[in-house]
Amino acid sequence: ALSPDLIGRRVLITAGGTREPLDPVRFLGNRSSGRQGFDLATVAAARGARVTLVAANVDLPPPAGTEVLRVSSTEELREATHGAAKDAEVVIMAAAVADFRPLTRARSKIKKSDAAPTAIELVRNPDVLAELVAGRATGQLNTAVIVGFAAETGDEDGDVLTHGRAKLARKGCDLLVVNAVGEGKAFGQPDNAGVLLGADGSEVQIPLGPKMVLAAAVCDAVAGLLPR
Ligand code: C5P
Repeated sequence: ALSPDLIGRRVLITAGGTREPLDPVRFLGNRSSGRQGFDLATVAAARGARVTLVAANVDLPPPAGTEVLRVSSTEELREATHGAAKDAEVVIMAAAVADFRPLTRARSKIKKSDAAPTAIELVRNPDVLAELVAGRATGQLNTAVIVGFAAETGDEDGDVLTHGRAKLARKGCDLLVVNAVGEGKAFGQPDNAGVLLGADGSEVQIPLGPKMVLAAAVCDAVAGLLPR
């Protein structure tokens, strides 16, 4: 059953993956489809929330009852997100945001006849989630709940959960949804598995299932964190 626990709540969700242009036709991007963020928006809206979706390169129709702001680069996502966060009670950063972008962007298409570039120089992008957390700390934002996502592949330095806990602490958000990606997992798939790590030490495991189910679990956790 759908609980009406988000009635009237203003929820901002980012979805999809940013693209960092190299020239007018090429970009550095990632495999995020936006499905998880759009499913979150669908569930939150069905539970009564007023949802704004910042969608980066998502090839999906807008979920019923949501307002969708379409963006592409991290800079565009950042502007739209900061603007919409001003009157959001909840921000859920489900988008895969590029950590780096090319230092320069060619004004016209890079041609085969141009001297072959041997490397692409990258610069770090601002961390939008960290900026929101910092804005709340200084009182510029009064977002009650900030949720991050972490796509982890796991490696020799530790497992997905160890990385997740460290990232939650580093980012300073209230909830971090950790999901395993890679080898056909998560990106573009209808199913997802994840662990919801709370800043209060809570840990909720969501087994592999429809992204809609993970979305509902995130909405449950968010509703539990909202002041009445
Ligand atoms: O550090 P990492 O990129 O794994 O963190 C993922 C989380 O941080 C996601 O919620 C993502 O939307 C957010 N993020 C961001 N700005 C960036 C990179 C990631 O807001 N430049």
